[in-house]
Amino acid sequence: MILAPSILSADFARLGEEIAAAERGGAGVVHVDVMDGHFVPNITIGPPVVKSIRRATRLPLDCHLMIENADRYLDAFVDAGANWISLHVEAVPHLQRAVAHLAKRGVKPGAVLNPATPLVALEEILPELDYVLVMSVNPGFGGQSFLPASLEKVRRLRALVVARGLSTRIEVDGGIGPDNVRPVVQAGADIVVAGNAVFGGGDPESAARRLIEAAA
Ligand code: DX5
Ligand code: ZN
Repeated sequence: MILAPSILSADFARLGEEIAAAERGGAGVVHVDVMDGHFVPNITIGPPVVKSIRRATRLPLDCHLMIENADRYLDAFVDAGANWISLHVEAVPHLQRAVAHLAKRGVKPGAVLNPATPLVALEEILPELDYVLVMSVNPGFGGQSFLPASLEKVRRLRALVVARGLSTRIEVDGGIGPDNVRPVVQAGADIVVAGNAVFGGGDPESAARRLIEAAA
């Protein structure tokens, strides 16, 4: 399991130190939640902050774009140093074009499903994706409760990936902490996002370590 701490719950004035602490605790990738106040009811950060984070860590940067017209901003995030970029199928009508563009630019492309979006929405694009991000909360905020139906969705996605002989990785995002990380991994998650559980308690290093232990 790869732990992807979401900086949404970090202290933005001390972002570099917070990320370094999570990295010492075993984080494998930094999850960056990009929100525009339109696709989701919250506003966070954009390419300039990604550029600064890029200089602060060697971990891959996983940019989760919760924005309208995401295709207009792909190059800005790639140029800022994003290594993985995931796009919501609900927000990007020409998803194949965007995914192919990201792949051509050397970035790992991912697609994201909201809790109410069925897996079948990925049927055609799946072979072109490096990863699928399954939302286990409705996107917009950190610290929400895990939606239990997500476990079955992850199981079905895992079965689909295996049945089609693909190597698509599965990432799960929202409401995950030491008490429920294990079933998420058992259901088939390769990458687990955690915001509040890593940065909410003031000691990201131990919190990250605890989560990784709880997953094993
Ligand atoms: C929600 C974001 C998540 C969020 C997870 O819109 O996509 O990445 O930060 O935070 P927790 O782990 O606190 O639910
Ligand atoms: Zn996210």
